[in-house]
Amino acid sequence: MSEIVLRYEAVSKEYLLGETVINALSDVSLAVNHGEFSALVGPSGSGKSTLLHLGAGLDRPTGGRVHLLGKRLHDVGEKGMARVRNREVGFIFQTFNLIPVLNVRENVEYPSLLYPEVKKNRARVMELLEKVGIADQADKRPHMLSGGQRQRVAIARALINDPNVVFADEPTANLDHRTGDSIMRLLEELNRSFGTTFLYSTHDEKIMARAKRIISLEDGKIVSDTAGPESRP
Ligand SMILES: Nc1ncnc2c1ncn2[C@@H]1O[C@H](COP(=O)(O)OP(=O)(O)OP(=O)(O)O)[C@@H](O)[C@H]1O
Ligand SMILES: [Mg+2]
Repeated sequence: MSEIVLRYEAVSKEYLLGETVINALSDVSLAVNHGEFSALVGPSGSGKSTLLHLGAGLDRPTGGRVHLLGKRLHDVGEKGMARVRNREVGFIFQTFNLIPVLNVRENVEYPSLLYPEVKKNRARVMELLEKVGIADQADKRPHMLSGGQRQRVAIARALINDPNVVFADEPTANLDHRTGDSIMRLLEELNRSFGTTFLYSTHDEKIMARAKRIISLEDGKIVSDTAGPESRP
């Protein structure tokens, strides 16, 4: 039986917009297994980003629970949440979110410097940069790179602390089709070689079809959860 790494249990998220309550997620339950490569799809505003943010400890639910490796995620206080974000999960953003004043190597190394027990590990950084195909750009700052190269750096950064789950919020949305395709091939390769669990959101049918499992959201609820074409014989 597969090991569950991430579990949402009756999770709700409400936002208050003036007097109006927005139910971004309503009573969502979902279990993600170790090594999964899954897509989260649904119309704009259906709650995809909210679901990813809650799983990664970037935000707190207003109802229900999120468990990461069996531990209740939002019980750990602010410091504990920061640790989860930094050490236990990785997050890849649509807009890359690199630090402009740091070079490629430093951007990837940065999350591993925040905790004293993690030794500065230049060899590990370079190994990851090799793996994502960007080692020759290690000394450049992000503004000198293309979108696809920036996303490769962001992927290496997301992996630096050996996370249990990597969340990716529309990782190819700011890239042209060919570059987006190469980024997906890279994520698939990382999923295969490191066994990293990936949960990514997308609006793109082709990107969606690469997943082994497709979870659809509508109005903050899961409306379908099926095997992707990739996992069919
Ligand atoms: N910080 C916030 N404050 C108020 N409402 C918010 C906030 N973040 C999200 N929402 C609302 O919550 C709902 C879900 O938003 P979310 O960003 O999760 O959707 P999404 O599926 O990621 O959409 P998209 O495909 O456009 O990225 C939407 O109605 C959105 O307007
Ligand atoms: Mg979104």
